[in-house]
Amino acid sequence: MSIAIAIDGPAGAGKSTIAKLAAKELGFIYVDTGALYRAIGLAAARRGLTAEDKEAVAAMLPEITVKLAFNENHEQIVLLDGEDVSGLIRTPEISMMASAVSAIPEVRAFLLDLQRDMARTDSVIMDRREIGTVVLPNAKIKIFLSASPECRARRRYDELIEKGMDVNYDDILNDVIARDYADSHRDIAPLKPAADAIMVDTSGEDLETSVNKLLQIMRDRI
Ligand code: DC
Repeated sequence: MSIAIAIDGPAGAGKSTIAKLAAKELGFIYVDTGALYRAIGLAAARRGLTAEDKEAVAAMLPEITVKLAFNENHEQIVLLDGEDVSGLIRTPEISMMASAVSAIPEVRAFLLDLQRDMARTDSVIMDRREIGTVVLPNAKIKIFLSASPECRARRRYDELIEKGMDVNYDDILNDVIARDYADSHRDIAPLKPAADAIMVDTSGEDLETSVNKLLQIMRDRI
């Protein structure tokens, strides 16, 4: 029988990095649901739509296909109308668009079955918004992963600098704080832990410590 593990938490808490490593250890498939929203954000941006064009984004949905697949290195890729757009969806512009489209109910409904189908056939670790509350309410394990805004901003800063980007720590901290506020105060799918989620704080921990902590929690419950 397949087992589902749902992970949510604020942006930059290390969800995807930790979830990927934990999935590898457990032999589960890691599903990055944010990539699906990003692909829709990209489709909207390509059509010249903006964050305000909610009806046009909803009207666009029947015209597009979004799919998660795996490449020859077993890495997840996201296909928009059959095109691998995994590299194109990681820009700040598409982050903003993804956030905007993810607040449109039609977009969430469009992606719901796709996400559920993946958990039906395989044991998965799925992360991001509403996985433990709406998408997989019966997930065996639900984890709400957090860390302080300063800690998350520092990690993101280090990541972007490593990628050779010219960024400023204070700007990133302000972005983190603004995004936390927007994510937890929006009407549609606000960021909030499932009632039965296990709360895990990774502030001040290195990656290995956090992964081991999560693996312990998971193994105890599988
Ligand atoms: O995690 P991310 O930055 O790749 O996600 C992109 C956007 O999509 C982000 O604003 C949150 C949103 N999202 C969501 O609302 N529900 C999900 N299950 C995944 C992502």
